[in-house]
Amino acid sequence: MSMIREQMLAAEKVTALQWRDNALYLLDQRLLPQHEQWQRYTTATEVALAIREMRVRGAPAIGVAAAFAVVLAAQQLTHRPHSEWQAVLEADFVELAESRPTAVNLFWALQKMRDCLANAVQQSQPLAVLEAQALAIFNADRAANLHTAELGLQLIREASSAPQHLMTHCNAGALATAGFGTALGVIRAAYLDGLVECVHINETRPWLQGSRLTAWELVGEGIPSMLNVDSSAAHLMAKNKISWVIVGADRITANGDVANKIGTYQLAVLAHYHKVKVMVVAPSSTIDMQLSSGDEIPIEERDGAEILYLDGQRVAAQVDAFNPVFDVTPAALIDVIVTERGVVQQPNSQKMRELMLHR
Ligand code: MRU
Repeated sequence: MSMIREQMLAAEKVTALQWRDNALYLLDQRLLPQHEQWQRYTTATEVALAIREMRVRGAPAIGVAAAFAVVLAAQQLTHRPHSEWQAVLEADFVELAESRPTAVNLFWALQKMRDCLANAVQQSQPLAVLEAQALAIFNADRAANLHTAELGLQLIREASSAPQHLMTHCNAGALATAGFGTALGVIRAAYLDGLVECVHINETRPWLQGSRLTAWELVGEGIPSMLNVDSSAAHLMAKNKISWVIVGADRITANGDVANKIGTYQLAVLAHYHKVKVMVVAPSSTIDMQLSSGDEIPIEERDGAEILYLDGQRVAAQVDAFNPVFDVTPAALIDVIVTERGVVQQPNSQKMRELMLHR
């Protein structure tokens, strides 16, 4: 085990989801950082709602939650013949798939569970087979986080051995995954390696994943961090503060385009202008080779109330609000995509194909 891996395991503090006593426990991310409240889920419908309402969020985490939700749905069927399970569970698969549209990890995990179900119903203990598959999805994400952290750290190290100013957007941390985080996994590893001067956290309007979640995770681990409004990114880059923008992803298409939290695209444009490197960190479950480019990614639009109101109080004039919560960064603006399968520098279709063929 690498030294960094050992240190990351020793420093682990935050988890977003737990599977125990045949139930799914989710840390309610709407209440952070003021309240650390865990809720117990026993039905797929409850989990679908938790995903929709962003009690659990972040691409890998919602995939893992959906996988366990299928197990919860199957737990209600133990009195029925196995031959009926696929038909009965169809409604649960549909409900879970409709919870959020952009992060492909959700659909990837549901497909894994669907494939597993087809095999499980031929076995004597289908529930145990489904549970093992959901746990495998959980554990694979944790393992991917550790590996991408090491690969990303290597890239930072190769570029400079001096402590760095890094910028991140949204929350791609432990709260967004089954493990240590994607972008924050790399940042954690860089910190443990002495390479972090300061992490600049964009607050990430309107849901404030940066100020509420990323700041909570980083400060909790003593990682030097500073919060800034999203619109100060250009200023920080112009002052030569930032060497890397490090973000996660919700869907990466076959040509290397990346959907991530709204604002990522403008950060990448700014980074290009200021010669700041952009690193996207994601497990390969975030890669959607079915879509040829980012134009085809469904972009979630949420209620305008998220912009019009603050703490339940209307702050905007009588105006309509447009609230897309993801955007697409073209591959040409990305220096490197880091996955557990390997690293893709200057991504394009051919390199993405090679990455996905390579085992
Ligand atoms: O709307 P959210 O909070 O689910 O959006 C999350 C992001 O955009 C993350 O950057 C992405 O899911 C990667 S998480 C490892």
